[in-house]
Amino acid sequence: MESRVLLTAVELDVFSKIEDGADTPVKLARATGTHTRGMERLLKALTGLELLHNEGEKFRNSESARRFLVSKSPEYMGGPLLHYANLWKKWTMLTDVIRTGQLPAEQSIDRHTTDQTKAFMEAMTFFARERAPQIAELVDLSEAKRLIDIGGGPAIYSIEFCKRYPQLKATVLDLPAAIPFAEENIRAAGLSSRISTIAGDYRNENFGGDFDVALLFSILHINSPEENKHLLAKTFRCLNPGGLILIQEFIADDTKTQPPYVALFGINMLVNTQAGDVYSWEEIASWLAETGFVDSKLLCKFNDIGFITARKPKTD
Ligand SMILES: C[S@@+](CC[C@H](N)C(=O)[O-])C[C@H]1O[C@@H](n2cnc3c(N)ncnc32)[C@H](O)[C@@H]1O
Repeated sequence: MESRVLLTAVELDVFSKIEDGADTPVKLARATGTHTRGMERLLKALTGLELLHNEGEKFRNSESARRFLVSKSPEYMGGPLLHYANLWKKWTMLTDVIRTGQLPAEQSIDRHTTDQTKAFMEAMTFFARERAPQIAELVDLSEAKRLIDIGGGPAIYSIEFCKRYPQLKATVLDLPAAIPFAEENIRAAGLSSRISTIAGDYRNENFGGDFDVALLFSILHINSPEENKHLLAKTFRCLNPGGLILIQEFIADDTKTQPPYVALFGINMLVNTQAGDVYSWEEIASWLAETGFVDSKLLCKFNDIGFITARKPKTD
């Protein structure tokens, strides 16, 4: 009940409207195009949850709502929350997906509507901004000249690496719907001359060659094991000898029951993708070895997320 109330309030942008002065149920119903009866009930529940305070007819944001739920705040969490609101709809299909064994194709992640893609990209931006500086600490790319970011989404990791390494140029490959979000972030970072984009499907797109580093960040869980082996083989081919593959991924134990969040994320992939799943380190390491990568290492885990490096062997 708490989650649903919060998600609906964020979907209707209630906290921003309150900050802009619509502070009664009537004004808020008008500002959000909703009915006063429902809005009044929502505001009371949000007050009970201490996200709002009220005096008589008037409601105002609590300190945390002002920080995290008002859209003009620099710490606004609307991206992830609107993405979770979209995921909520997918999760309601869980029983049917388990009954039929298959997600209807039109519900798949690569068929997102514009609004779904926007929320997804804003959520990815939010998480990547937090993690990118720590990830960039884990590897030394001072010798690398060209990086490919496969399924790079909002391009935050490419941006972070290019900021750190002035000699580096990056190419972000993602589905056409995601590319405008990458380009906006690249422009805002002033890196348009060093980061290019390719709008395409990594299953069909030719990656070209001559890359020193390839990123596969939060990509393996979208695909089946066979699709991942295929993707790793394509990635191997686009790298120069000695080139580095970096993978960021949820890591399940070999029973796939632990950690609990990762087992639940397996369900998230069941209701969002045709064939995605969570994988263990042993599985990923075996695909890398089968593809020809060497020196594969699981460097560290951020909560349940592992960071993997491996190399294409040098020819000499
Ligand atoms: C979980 S997001 C990760 C984004 C980014 N790598 C990051 O870690 O912030 C997965 C990305 O893969 C992209 N993607 C999914 N299927 C794809 C496909 N078939 N071809 C290209 N990109 C794809 C999505 O659009 C999305 O940007």
